[in-house]
Amino acid sequence: MSTKTKAIRGMRDVLPDETPIWQWLENKLRRLTFRYGYNEMRLPLLEPVSLFERSIGEATDIIAKEMYNFTDKSGEHVTLRPEGTSGCMRAVLENNLCYNKTQRIWYQGPMFRYERPQKGRLRQFTQFGVEAFAMKGPDIDAELIFMVRDLFQELGLTQYVRLELNSLGTLEERQQHREQLLLWFEAHRDILDEESIKRLETNPLRILDSKNPAMQSMLEQAPKLLDYLNEESRNHFNTVCQIIDCAGIPYTINPRLVRGLDYYTRTVFEWITDELGAQGTVCGGGRYDGLAELFNPKALPACGFAIGIERLLLLIQTLQQNDNPLWHFSANVVITNEMNDDGLYAQTIAEKIRSNINALSVVVDCSGSKLKRQHHTARQNQCQIIVTINKDHTLRMWDLSGAQQLTIGEKELINWLQKYYQKFLG
Ligand code: HAM
Repeated sequence: MSTKTKAIRGMRDVLPDETPIWQWLENKLRRLTFRYGYNEMRLPLLEPVSLFERSIGEATDIIAKEMYNFTDKSGEHVTLRPEGTSGCMRAVLENNLCYNKTQRIWYQGPMFRYERPQKGRLRQFTQFGVEAFAMKGPDIDAELIFMVRDLFQELGLTQYVRLELNSLGTLEERQQHREQLLLWFEAHRDILDEESIKRLETNPLRILDSKNPAMQSMLEQAPKLLDYLNEESRNHFNTVCQIIDCAGIPYTINPRLVRGLDYYTRTVFEWITDELGAQGTVCGGGRYDGLAELFNPKALPACGFAIGIERLLLLIQTLQQNDNPLWHFSANVVITNEMNDDGLYAQTIAEKIRSNINALSVVVDCSGSKLKRQHHTARQNQCQIIVTINKDHTLRMWDLSGAQQLTIGEKELINWLQKYYQKFLG
């Protein structure tokens, strides 16, 4: 009996049909990081469990329920990274990258969280992340928001996403707020659901994040962290708002925006869409000035954001009005073959075209199927030119855009293609 092997739940293949749209988006992201002067960092997928326990916080859902932990052969407790910020901070400290200088860094790659899979929520997903180190002013927080705004603008998504902002203050300010919040929740304990009662002990701030309709009006009236900010934190937040006001970026201040990771201080933000159902947060980020001190004697101000690539692609595809040819791979030239010569001549011609015009993609139909079928496949795959090698060794060329066809010699064919693709050749 055969047993079918399937991908693990919540982990999906990106099939060859889908990779062109990934690459199209990745090119835009690369261009964005270049325009803002950010440099790529490539980080390991495996890190020590303790890195995330300390950075993300033991009481968070990620650490409590969602980690892919295991013990490796040397007995070390390691995990598949659930996010990129902690590893990025580790690498910056370990390699002393901020010795007398600032750093602007980006990364992209798979992250792993054992969550309940649903639309827009996977167990292996891809983040594009940006982190800025050793800059403590509000201007860099605003710069990150500019970057995301630029991306959404370029993708034509501006009207489908909204920006929410909050300040989580410093540790001390949060402590004072926490005391008042606990008193408030104790006074309304009868309204709290089971999950929130558990969070009273571990992470009361996260109760503010609850979507339970029965709790909403009580949560709306709960003490707001913004009222506990000291002058410095308030000024920081006001300046972030001022800078993005000047740039004309609309936003709302959401005092209940708390984020799901414990390392944040001061500015936090999310870009949310209503087009994807429950998993509407496309981008999340903020400042995490206290994180370095968990690992290092010296403080290192930092802030950043991450975008879920699968969610962003889902949004683009949900809203897609017109199909974009760049979202599909199609060869420029397909060589179809009627000769019975094991493809010898077809491969030779293909190589000649490639070496003369290296900007083109040239694909030989090696399927061995009938000529009619080869043509059908080439047209279905939306190639631009078909070159057929006839039984008698002659070449026939079809320009599918102009529907012109002609019998042509080898040299003429290369000249013709060179003229036709002049625009690619510069
Ligand atoms: P996060 O909000 O946990 O933040 O994740 C950032 C983004 O990753 C989310 O907005 C979402 O688009 C995507 N994402 C998260 N979980 C999943 C999932 N299970 N399936 C699909 N997409 C998902 C962070 O990870 C922080 N490290 C962001 C950051 C960078 N803060 C400062 N610097």
